[in-house]
Amino acid sequence: MKSGLPQNDPESAIKAWRKAFPILFLPVRGKRLAYLDNGATTQKPSTVIESLERYYGETNANVHRGVHDLSERATAAYEQARAGMADFIGASAPEEIIFTRGTTEAINLVAWSYGELLNPGDEVLISALEHHSNIVPWQMLRDRRGITLKVVPITREGDINPDDFSSALSEKTALVALAHVSNALGTVNPIADMIAQAHAQGAVVLIDGAQAVAHMPVEVQKLDCDFYAFSGHKMYGPTGIGVLYGKSSLLERMPPWQGGGDMIRTVEFERSTYAPPPYKFEAGTPHIAGAIGMGKAAEYIRQVGFAPIMEHETILLDYALQQLQSLEFIRLIGTPQVRSGAISFIVTDVHPHDVGTILDHHGVAIRAGHHCAMPVMQFYQVPATVRASFALYNNHEDVDQLIDSLQQVREMFG
Ligand SMILES: Cc1ncc(COP(=O)(O)O)c(C=O)c1O
Repeated sequence: MKSGLPQNDPESAIKAWRKAFPILFLPVRGKRLAYLDNGATTQKPSTVIESLERYYGETNANVHRGVHDLSERATAAYEQARAGMADFIGASAPEEIIFTRGTTEAINLVAWSYGELLNPGDEVLISALEHHSNIVPWQMLRDRRGITLKVVPITREGDINPDDFSSALSEKTALVALAHVSNALGTVNPIADMIAQAHAQGAVVLIDGAQAVAHMPVEVQKLDCDFYAFSGHKMYGPTGIGVLYGKSSLLERMPPWQGGGDMIRTVEFERSTYAPPPYKFEAGTPHIAGAIGMGKAAEYIRQVGFAPIMEHETILLDYALQQLQSLEFIRLIGTPQVRSGAISFIVTDVHPHDVGTILDHHGVAIRAGHHCAMPVMQFYQVPATVRASFALYNNHEDVDQLIDSLQQVREMFG
């Protein structure tokens, strides 16, 4: 890995990163934009935007089907993107990368396909920290196949309780599905240890990496997870594209979950036979441009380097936390042991939606709501929180703009 920020002039490095993102320089409601809604989606660098334009302008054709030059080039670019994603997360082969619409579809794929291999009485273990995408597909599996869904509680600080996690595991646990990083609280789970514990009980493990891959290096072989799901749009890539990583040995055993073109070997009216993974799981025309754009986004992240990204984001998170804690009218929701990317909070006596609307008028884009994690809101007994979430292009000015705008909120509400 590259070393961290240049010690002599870190500000210039961050300025140069920001220049790659044209949208950051467009005023919003006549104000400088402080974009702090990166947990919802990140902005896109020019290289990603240009790759989409170039694909549609110069290469567009359907993949895997044509014998003509454009189709061959589109196929090569699509498969190159797959190889790039395998490299990005340290998979052992491109065949372990399935392109999906995003994290949600990747988790549903596992629930619908691997889920078919589970039996009544098998247990699926999740945590109370999960995004709805990592809850609802398992409830649907429970209702379909009679599995038992168990939920590991969280501590007041917003960490998965380690003792409860260990004691929830047993020989009945068939699958463990956990967020790498919580989108609602920013908690970074100690997933390497959790994966090892789950494996010791013979369970397979799916990691929801939606909030991790833009912030920290992920090495799926080192982690030894069985599945890893993530979205292009949360890592500076396009929307509508994502990845499910799966170990080849598992993908080969799993039945397809959607039928159609591209996923078959032969079709007769009596029966069909299926293509090998990953194609078995990619029915229909894929989001070719999206995959290429996601590949470019991964290239962009690697070019910047995780060491400087992590150093910068840690400094910025610490600064934001310190500033927020200095405001007596702010209550932090969740104080996890290790945090990445996001801070959730409440402004005393002001509904988060009102906070969001006022901040918007000051050019500050944050998220106010339940963050698709209603059980987390229920745990803290709040209807919603305000969430500021960070990306590599955020700077101290963005945090200052957030803090100044929060002061305005306080003044307006007395
Ligand atoms: C932790 C987590 N999991 C899953 C998702 C769903 O991602 P997508 O909407 O891209 O499928 C999100 C999106 O916010 C998330 O933060």
